[in-house]
Amino acid sequence: MKLFLDSALADEIQYAIDNWALDGITTNPRHVQVSGKAFLEAIQEIAAMVAGTEITVSVQTNPHKHDDADAIITEARKLAVISPNFVIKMPCTEAGFKACYTLAKEDIRSNLTLCFSASQALQAMRMGAFYVSPFIGWKESNAEPSQQFIEDCVAIRDNYCFTTEILVAAVRNGRQIADAAVMGADITTAGFAVWQESFNHPYTDMGLGKFQDFWDQTPYGEIVSIKG
Ligand code: E4P
Repeated sequence: MKLFLDSALADEIQYAIDNWALDGITTNPRHVQVSGKAFLEAIQEIAAMVAGTEITVSVQTNPHKHDDADAIITEARKLAVISPNFVIKMPCTEAGFKACYTLAKEDIRSNLTLCFSASQALQAMRMGAFYVSPFIGWKESNAEPSQQFIEDCVAIRDNYCFTTEILVAAVRNGRQIADAAVMGADITTAGFAVWQESFNHPYTDMGLGKFQDFWDQTPYGEIVSIKG
């Protein structure tokens, strides 16, 4: 399963590139606002950081245009020429699906975002989405289970051999990352702190403490030449 970072902060992205074998980046209007930069400035800075790599960068179209396929298509074409790494985010709406279908024929890759049902995921796949993003954290915040949702998306993809990659989004903890992997999702995107926390475990720290004690009580010795 691929590891995507959900962020528009240059220092977080650079750290993940240098240390985590990062596969992709997802941005959204909140992340860009947090970066304190203008939208085009922020996404071009990220584009420069990943230039020459296979790391994809999902950049979001204007959410006010959610019901205007032509506006989404026009903006997607404009953004797609900025960087070959860009995948253009558009919402799971009727207009978003239509835009995705048109853009796929032009080899412009789409990430269908704000996906909250298996039927939306099916439509994204049918229309040629490069990624579809089921948002599991938001569902769970509203007491809706997410495992069945991911399972359904994976089953639909497999039943019809769709090429769309399932990008599990709005992930809040390591358990949800593992769930996505167990269910067969292609990608998980999560924030910097969520990934960092998922790499650690208190027992690992406790075990290190124990081993350090034994290590300190044992002489290291010397390497002798062994003839064989
Ligand atoms: C994914 O592509 C989204 O950017 C992201 O996961 C949105 O959810 P969040 O900001 O609530 O985590």
